[in-house]
Amino acid sequence: MPDSTRTLKIFFATNNIHKYNEVNAIFKQHTFFQLKFLKTPLVEIQSSNLEEIAIFSLKKCSRIIKNTPIFVEDSGLFIKHLNGFPGPYSAYIFKTIGLKGIIALMKEIEDREAYFQSSIALKIENKINIFTGQVRGQIAQDISDTGWGYDPIFIPESDGIHTFGELGIKKNFISHRFLATLKLIKFLNKYSAD
Ligand code: IMP
Repeated sequence: MPDSTRTLKIFFATNNIHKYNEVNAIFKQHTFFQLKFLKTPLVEIQSSNLEEIAIFSLKKCSRIIKNTPIFVEDSGLFIKHLNGFPGPYSAYIFKTIGLKGIIALMKEIEDREAYFQSSIALKIENKINIFTGQVRGQIAQDISDTGWGYDPIFIPESDGIHTFGELGIKKNFISHRFLATLKLIKFLNKYSAD
């Protein structure tokens, strides 16, 4: 467990408390950095590339933050049978057709392969760095009772039975966000050694 007396601050700008909680749990175990929740809606451009979207959001929301490192995260669910849909449009699709709509689009489809991607854009010492994590899996036949966002319909390959939602806290240590966050922390820990 990192020593809290040597804590350095970093902002995570997001409007999503679930994302903050997941990332904060990983930070607490792996780094000296103390995560600060900068609650803000992000401006997202239309792009097929999550990394580009994250960089744009970061540039917008980091204008007022001068000397503290700051990062944003953009994620999406990419379904092979739907040519990567909803991908960068995951937030909009979630709000419109929702999980029921996705399950309907996948009705009687055998190839249920999908992946989740998380792309983190970090600004530190006036430079932007990107960290990406992906997790392969399958779209479930039904919507599970637990989990936020697309968690109730995504079964990670490493489990093969339970959705992210059903995995509860275990999700947080196998997820796309976990993999991206670990890359971020590995990079940040170079700074905390000084
Ligand atoms: P955004 O990264 O906030 O744009 O999220 C895109 C969409 O994917 C939103 O509807 C989120 O709820 C959903 N989402 C992002 N990450 C996850 C996750 O880890 N599990 C489930 N849904 C997610």
